[in-house]
Amino acid sequence: MPAPAGRELTWGRRFLMCPPEHFGVLYEINSWMHSEVAVDPDRAREQWEALVAALRSAGAQVELQPAVPGLPDLVFTANAGVVNGRQFVPARFRHPERQGETPHDIAWFSDHGYRVEELPLGVSHEGAGDALPFGSVLVSGYRIRTDAASHAYLSKLTGAAVRSVELVDPRLYHLDLTFCPLDERRAMVAPLGWDRYGRRVMEALVPEPLVLGEEATLQFCANSVVVGRTVVMPACPPAVGRQLEAWGFEVEVVDVSEFQKAGGACRCLTLALDVELGR
Ligand code: ARG
Repeated sequence: MPAPAGRELTWGRRFLMCPPEHFGVLYEINSWMHSEVAVDPDRAREQWEALVAALRSAGAQVELQPAVPGLPDLVFTANAGVVNGRQFVPARFRHPERQGETPHDIAWFSDHGYRVEELPLGVSHEGAGDALPFGSVLVSGYRIRTDAASHAYLSKLTGAAVRSVELVDPRLYHLDLTFCPLDERRAMVAPLGWDRYGRRVMEALVPEPLVLGEEATLQFCANSVVVGRTVVMPACPPAVGRQLEAWGFEVEVVDVSEFQKAGGACRCLTLALDVELGR
């Protein structure tokens, strides 16, 4: 008998994405990126289209932001900022290589009627890549890309209670490589990426965790997009698939290997636009 379903996430039906016209590995700002490894632009385009198709057939709407030459990581819209209703808090990127994205992100959100409210200068925060809502709180990672100091500002700007989790493994440099909310009670978690205190925070927060082992974690299983009861994943080892199915989820695997060359997968390529913090 499958366990009774938890209530579905209140968000994850509308996403912002950016086509990979100018995507590539042109610099190295995480341990997955090797600029001598070429990206196949046709394959990248096909994989990205397949992700869009999977999200749409799961019932999500996809909105598009134009690609910009010279900004190869703009495809990873998760990092644009934090969305809260009609409020948009743009990221402050750690690395200069990505800082040029922010004016384009701000332009998209203000053109679409969002109120843009910025974090103070000199404090890094890498958007939804490091901030995911779970229940009534916003879980935010810090140390590798995001400064712990940003959390208090984010909480003040959005009104959300922020739970801070320290990221300790350079391969798992964003929270969304270690945490994937599934429904109101369940989430995929990769404790490998967290310090001891962070593990305790997450244990207390998630009543029914699906704990990913090292192999599943490094295949970026947590970097999945949840649309209602569909989980769109870059890879799914059998044991993970069995648990998700036992919980009533449908698994959809989309190969995003070209994007993994830059250290990103399904979740990183999307930014949920229908998040209302504190709900
Ligand atoms: N190359 C990008 C970077 O290092 C990948 C971003 C992945 N995004 C994410 N939300 N994990 O910044």
